[in-house]
Amino acid sequence: MTDAPLLHVAGLEAGYGELQILFGIDLRVDRGEQILVFGPNGAGKSTLIKALAGQVAPSAGKVWLDGREVTGRKPEALAAAGLGYVPQVANVFTSMSVRENLEIGGVRLSARRRRARIAELGDLFPRLAERLDQRAGTLSGGERQMLALARALMPEPSVMLLDEPSAGIAPALVTRIFEMVAGLRETGTAVVMVEQNAKQALGYVDRGVLLDSGRVRLQDGAAALCDRQDIGALYLGTEAAS
Ligand SMILES: Nc1ncnc2c1ncn2[C@@H]1O[C@H](COP(=O)(O)OP(=O)(O)OP(=O)(O)O)[C@@H](O)[C@H]1O
Ligand SMILES: [Mg+2]
Repeated sequence: MTDAPLLHVAGLEAGYGELQILFGIDLRVDRGEQILVFGPNGAGKSTLIKALAGQVAPSAGKVWLDGREVTGRKPEALAAAGLGYVPQVANVFTSMSVRENLEIGGVRLSARRRRARIAELGDLFPRLAERLDQRAGTLSGGERQMLALARALMPEPSVMLLDEPSAGIAPALVTRIFEMVAGLRETGTAVVMVEQNAKQALGYVDRGVLLDSGRVRLQDGAAALCDRQDIGALYLGTEAAS
């Protein structure tokens, strides 16, 4: 065992064609640690998650997962190395059943292990367990988001990348989804989550990273960030003290 971080990002730069979006991103995520990436629209939060998931190629910098350099690896290779990814949109196969979606998530597992994981995730997501044969396209927005999470959890990733898991979901279910994410701590799964709902999400994670114009502006413990009135007023939608 080493005390190297589970996910280590150094000087990461990425963008789309000529357009550079991320500038010198440094990030360390420890085993089982939960991190919120927050910041204004267009800051590059989704681009960071996509770069970590292998969906956007980095133009500079390095990424290590579990001590192994994985810079520029393809999404499938990263998934095999223990990285789970739930994109912001289009994150389930709508024409397939809930069970089939979960099976696809566990495609690299043995048939026996796959069945066991579907049963385990059914305990964690009872709403899904009741709807295994339902077409994913007929699920409610919240149920669909739970399916996307469960599908990514099938192979027991060591780190989960979540892009706006609460987007478009009713408040009662948002709390439920944040509780599930926080519950991953017990399984040792690390989380890097992006949330529009940053103020509420900070209540569930260990640390927050503020991204603005493609740069990490500051990072601190979640509680410390909640207490910072300047951060609250600028980025969390809370009132500044007068
Ligand atoms: N496929 C793309 N091609 C070109 N530019 C893109 C592409 N995707 C995103 N961008 C641009 O990159 C910048 C950062 O976008 P990104 O989606 O990473 O922001 P974000 O922080 O996730 O924003 P939001 O809070 O709105 O989700 C934006 O200016 C966006 O227009
Ligand atoms: Mg985004």
